[in-house]
Amino acid sequence: MRRELGEIPGITVTDTGFDGRADFVLFEADRGRRDAPLSLRTTEDVFVEVGRTLRSEGDNPRWIASRIWRPERVQPALSVWAEEVRPLASSMTFRVITRVLQEQSFLRTELRSQLIQVISTNKSRWRFADPAQIEAWISEYRSGCLVAGLRLTDVRMRQHDGREVERQGALRPTVAAAMVTLAGEPSGVLFDPCCGSGTILAEAQARGWTADGVDIDPDAVAIARRNVPDASVKAGDAGSLDRADASVAASVSNVPFGQQYDVQGDMAEWLSIVLAEMARVTRPGGRVVLLAPQIPRSAVPAELRARDRYQIRLLGTKTTIWVYDRT
Ligand SMILES: C[S@@+](CC[C@H](N)C(=O)[O-])C[C@H]1O[C@@H](n2cnc3c(N)ncnc32)[C@H](O)[C@@H]1O
Repeated sequence: MRRELGEIPGITVTDTGFDGRADFVLFEADRGRRDAPLSLRTTEDVFVEVGRTLRSEGDNPRWIASRIWRPERVQPALSVWAEEVRPLASSMTFRVITRVLQEQSFLRTELRSQLIQVISTNKSRWRFADPAQIEAWISEYRSGCLVAGLRLTDVRMRQHDGREVERQGALRPTVAAAMVTLAGEPSGVLFDPCCGSGTILAEAQARGWTADGVDIDPDAVAIARRNVPDASVKAGDAGSLDRADASVAASVSNVPFGQQYDVQGDMAEWLSIVLAEMARVTRPGGRVVLLAPQIPRSAVPAELRARDRYQIRLLGTKTTIWVYDRT
């Protein structure tokens, strides 16, 4: 997401962080470029910043709340909110979401109630409610660094168009979008040999690829066909693909790793067979992108050269996106 944002003209990434639940990218956007981050498929939420502050020794939640919600800084943020979300009325409903990295320094709930008080004093006609029209978030995105913002997006941003049929173990669309981005510019067929409900195929199509998928489970094939009707989805085994050599431009997959879906036999052996098949069907110059907690070096065939790897957290578990060049 950081790289994608940084490549948009008029956007300058200023900082990054993690608040214990989500990765953060802080950026400045030129006036005419504000809409661009709102259409990124790798992003789950976009906020307009209200304020930032550092937490120091002996600090308390009330001081932090009043430093971060300063009326002269809130007003321009509210103008952006009104432009992007809906016109402001004199009376609005609001709620506050807080995330802190170290609960032992002070209670998240205390910071939340202090911010509610500060907002109620500043905006006497606003009413606290849940759900609310305005969501103010305050996050400790790095130890001792807090940022507050108004949420410009809602759940539709992270769900993209939504899946028609849900299936256990389905990938988050934003992660699928990141994997597809790492496969390079669209140039023909992007293939997922363990496609499940088709999340990667849907993201591939949205980016301009022709999407082909395989899954060993006939139920998954039926679901992927419903979720991504324009993709070609077949039943098959990723370990012995019914495909010609070098027939796809990229292979991208969220392979099973023994949580919701298990592999047949030993994991390292299974991975080496499947990676060899992915390398075989991918044309030289193409990319192979995999989501898996671990890929032993011995499982990677000689035709795949490691290009990048990104550690991510999914539902609190660390995993990795592995990117290979097909030589
Ligand atoms: C983690 S899930 C993929 C989820 C998918 N990305 C989604 O969003 O729904 C892994 C998938 O691999 C499939 N699978 C397991 N062994 C396979 C094999 N040998 N060949 C093809 N698919 C396999 C499972 O049926 C499962 O759908």
